[in-house]
Amino acid sequence: MYVLGIETSCDETAAAVVTSDRAIRANLVVSQFDAHRPFGGVVPEIAARSHLDHLDGVVERAMAEAGLDFAELDGIAATAGPGLIGGVMVGVMTAKAIAAVHAKPFLAVNHLEGHALTVRLTEGLAFPYLLLLVSGGHCQLLSVEGVGAYRRLGGTIDDAVGEAFDKTAKLLGLGFPGGPAVEAAAKQGNPARFALPRPMLGRQGCDFSFSGLKTAVRHTVRDLEPLDATTRADLAASFQAAVAEVLVDRTRRALQRFAATHGVPGPLVVAGGVAANLTLRSALAELAESEGTRLVAPPLALCTDNAAMIAWAGLERLRLGAADPLDFPARPRWPLDSLARPDKEAAE
Ligand code: KG4
Ligand code: ZN
Repeated sequence: MYVLGIETSCDETAAAVVTSDRAIRANLVVSQFDAHRPFGGVVPEIAARSHLDHLDGVVERAMAEAGLDFAELDGIAATAGPGLIGGVMVGVMTAKAIAAVHAKPFLAVNHLEGHALTVRLTEGLAFPYLLLLVSGGHCQLLSVEGVGAYRRLGGTIDDAVGEAFDKTAKLLGLGFPGGPAVEAAAKQGNPARFALPRPMLGRQGCDFSFSGLKTAVRHTVRDLEPLDATTRADLAASFQAAVAEVLVDRTRRALQRFAATHGVPGPLVVAGGVAANLTLRSALAELAESEGTRLVAPPLALCTDNAAMIAWAGLERLRLGAADPLDFPARPRWPLDSLARPDKEAAE
């Protein structure tokens, strides 16, 4: 089976082709960093226009690289939410048009499901597993029990962790996108210099909170301004250490709850843009080992937004007999644990 995937939910215009034997035949990502950089963050209107300008060309190049005609595809998948609605609409309309013209199934993919299933594309991982999903808009712990079967064990009560990275980068004057900039600065820094708060550490349950940490970074910056390079690096490292400690603490609890349900403590999977952070990956790998399991993480390029994960999630649903109607709406919000199992959905 061949599925074309389209991703336009944020500031990446992406198209990819994957096969049912887990090969990635093409995987193109055009980033809009330069268009948004002057504003220090993603501007929805600019993103939507840029997707419209680039998507046709990106899809054409992906198909050429895969060496396929549209007629040879088994399905066309697009991110239908959650995300910036203007961009999501561009991707959904394009996928629907291709599906309609070539009489192929259309698959409306939840962006979070794309992140959640990536390790099944890259590693062929079997269900169930515990997923820590950490991106610019999301921070949740999910028990992944099947395609369309996601149970939420915890989530952020305020900001997403990627948002905290981006905000910290802005406060430190490190530029955009923030996550990689904070990680690079932290490499030269002393993580013990600033005792930043660890929100929710040791609390019951598996929820997260990052707004207090963000505020603490803001106050520290205000007190020390102007910042020299050493202070910037130390603050980045101290912030990253606080995030890692909180994520490890919350994930440990989730692993224990997962073990109580499934009889095994994992495997633990980390996905989403923040999963590209190497300090975090090694902290989570250590945690997994101490809990008697292992960490499975996608390669860095498949952690941040891409269309291979969307094509793959579409393919997983397609081979279970699912497809979506051409009037399926673009959804700005779409919680992952609200997804019906495909067998049930197909019957509805
Ligand atoms: O999954 P993603 O590409 O888009 C969303 O679905 O949100 O995640 C983007 C987020 C941004 O907040 C970005 O700063 C963060 O992931 N990120 C990182 C790193 N690379 C990207 N955060 C920490 N360390 C990184 N190396
Ligand atoms: Zn994402």
